Amino acid sequence: MKIVTTIDEVRAQVKEWRAQGLSVGLVPTMGYLHEGHASLIDASHSGNDRTVVSDFVNPMQFGPSEDLESYPRDIEHDAALAEAHGCDLIFHPEPSEMYNKGFSSFVDMTVLTQELCGLSRPVHFRGVCTVVSKLFNIVKPDRAYFGKKDAQQLAVIKHMVDDLNIDIEIVGCPIIRESDGLAKSSRNTYLNADERKAALVLSQAIRLGSDMVKNGEKNCSAVIEAMKKHINDEPLARIDYVKIVDFATMQQITMLDRPALCAIAVFIGKTRLIDNFFTEDVIG
Ligand code: PAJ
Repeated sequence: MKIVTTIDEVRAQVKEWRAQGLSVGLVPTMGYLHEGHASLIDASHSGNDRTVVSDFVNPMQFGPSEDLESYPRDIEHDAALAEAHGCDLIFHPEPSEMYNKGFSSFVDMTVLTQELCGLSRPVHFRGVCTVVSKLFNIVKPDRAYFGKKDAQQLAVIKHMVDDLNIDIEIVGCPIIRESDGLAKSSRNTYLNADERKAALVLSQAIRLGSDMVKNGEKNCSAVIEAMKKHINDEPLARIDYVKIVDFATMQQITMLDRPALCAIAVFIGKTRLIDNFFTEDVIG
């Protein structure tokens, strides 16, 4: 496995693979890799001849008061994990390699980004869409892999490739959790011992809500209120949102009469964590 830092090196390697008729999968990440990322690398490794992992903390998707500086980084650890899961090339650029001085073009999206995380993180999805478009143009993969952990991001990227006629298959992969249920996240490292315990309210609320849906509850506010009550019982938790939206449009719905996403964002202390379930995964 190679680690490269320049766009030219990625292009040269992918060109070589293409000349041999090999297929290429891309796993975009911000590094500090864990088993959630590893599951995407596994999926790419089994679905493609070669796998590229991008490892880049993208400044453009962080708001001014967010955790860009403190976001955890460890390229040696990432390289070992990625290689063990079948990665062939890590692209680990400096911000200046991705955003040159005169950078002034953006990929922006309306509607889908105006709900859920888009409301609390106004510049986030513009940064995600812009960097992912750039990565798609740099690597030109056949397939790209994204986790359902970031369900709105997955919906936004799927919509973007449709809107802009980008010829890349977007593969969504299941949420990987710790043994006690907490969804794996690079941001879990911010939690102290008490917060780590308190963070379990997210996956517990997800279990509670998905059980209600599994048992036939169709009224969204009944599900949302039960989940909110459970989270509010934890003193260290502060709800950002608990919502049920149509997965195709990200608009809130009142009845569960179509494929829906139940998504939550909760601050545990200063750390904002997200979790979700898809009604289709619960009721088939
Ligand atoms: P990052 O948070 O590093 O996540 C990279 C990918 O790993 C995303 O597709 C995310 O959904 C997936 N992932 C994270 N935790 C997961 C878990 N517990 N189970 C399954 N998949 C999980 O998402 C980003 O980076 C960035 O926004 C990026 C797309 C790289 C653009 O900068």
